[in-house]
Amino acid sequence: MSRIAVIGTGYVGLTTGACFAHIGHDVVCADIDADKVARLQRGEIPILESGLDNLVREGLQDGRLSFVVGAAQAAADCDFAYLCVPTPQGADGSADLSYIETAAQEIGPVLPTEAIVVNKSTVPVGSTRVVERALGRSDVAVVSNPEFLREGSAIHDFLNPDRIVIGAEDQAAAVRVQSLYLGITAPVIVTDPASAETIKYAANAFLATKISFINAVAAVCEAVGADIKDVALGMGYDTRIGHEFLKPGPGWGGSCFPKDTRALVRIAEDAGYDFGLLKGVVTVNDEQLHRVAAKVVEVAGGSVAGKRIGVWGLTFKARTDDLRESPSLSVIRHLVDQGAKVRAYDPSSPDALAGIQVVDDPYAAVDGAEVLAVLTEWDEFRWLDLDKVADLMAAKNIVDARNLMDRAALVRRGFDYRGIGRS
Ligand SMILES: NC(=O)c1ccc[n+]([C@@H]2O[C@H](COP(=O)([O-])OP(=O)(O)OC[C@H]3O[C@@H](n4cnc5c(N)ncnc54)[C@H](O)[C@@H]3O)[C@@H](O)[C@H]2O)c1
Repeated sequence: MSRIAVIGTGYVGLTTGACFAHIGHDVVCADIDADKVARLQRGEIPILESGLDNLVREGLQDGRLSFVVGAAQAAADCDFAYLCVPTPQGADGSADLSYIETAAQEIGPVLPTEAIVVNKSTVPVGSTRVVERALGRSDVAVVSNPEFLREGSAIHDFLNPDRIVIGAEDQAAAVRVQSLYLGITAPVIVTDPASAETIKYAANAFLATKISFINAVAAVCEAVGADIKDVALGMGYDTRIGHEFLKPGPGWGGSCFPKDTRALVRIAEDAGYDFGLLKGVVTVNDEQLHRVAAKVVEVAGGSVAGKRIGVWGLTFKARTDDLRESPSLSVIRHLVDQGAKVRAYDPSSPDALAGIQVVDDPYAAVDGAEVLAVLTEWDEFRWLDLDKVADLMAAKNIVDARNLMDRAALVRRGFDYRGIGRS
């Protein structure tokens, strides 16, 4: 079993650290956020991710998982150092590598001889060289091992991946990284760093394309009187297409798709290719946010100025507490800009948000509202008491941006129901 340092304890780092400890490695996770580290040392999990609390507790109790402040402290005694730090969108659309460079600079001087640095952050082609330069160590190999987990099922995805991708110039280093996943059954693709880095961006861009495509087809359905639910079902049974990511909604968001699609457009541009298709995917997504906001305005009678709008769902998807680039927040921003008074509920209990009144009860969110907008696909919304909702609302209007609710049950109660891609 190996000694692994994980740099960054966010959604990816914490999952990686907890899962590697679970399969038997000795893991030290580092972060720059001292409060977060203190909480993790006590077994408190700063994010909502199913099963993560059990794994962290198990690792702490068994002594295979620990948390420290500062990358150097974790890396001083490791065989592998996993970089799991942010790569946000820079001002020009490209990925900002400053966190990666800083982390590499911190661990470079202390890494033991022949340690391997593994990049799990999503980074553009050429980043392996950037890390090598920042490390300043000729005896340390740098390997790309992109992460494909989905928030909300991160532990499951890490332990049961569809594939493991390893990009390395040095084949011996690739084999050593592969050995860390002993016990995890998955196809392993060993390739060069540029291909590994491209796989990650291309996979995310393709998934975003699927969502934008079905959102565009939903717009066609509305125009021609077809029902997107049946259309998507009929398409998805074709095994070349599949059902996954074929659900219309308010658009894609989250911490990855927006920045990764723009980064790939930029990578292509810098390399001399105009990725018009992907630019279109981004445009369709921006339009979708407007389309959903426009539905709320329309059902409110043409204006939301001064009107109370109830919202269910704030996170970018269900079963996570991640609000980064949430389509729900973008739709709400459009409504607030037009004078709406938004009162919102989300099961992840988010902290206060500027311009939105956040409540901890779904019924309080709809009390006195003229429109209810369902913006995130939390399953529990489907089981709420619709009679009570109808009684509480000032007008019975609903925009179901996830096609989640029981349309017939709502119509029976007199609601003006507006879904996506269906009347
Ligand atoms: N979130 C996802 O679903 C997901 C999935 C696959 C890949 N990724 C990629 O993984 C990377 C990390 O994403 P995330 O969502 O976990 O980010 P995050 O923002 O949740 O966590 C990053 C953590 O790194 C810490 N950090 C920053 N600089 C540091 C340093 N020098 N030393 C130690 N810690 C440091 C931050 O304090 C933070 O806790 C990104 O490149 C992202 O694109 C994310």
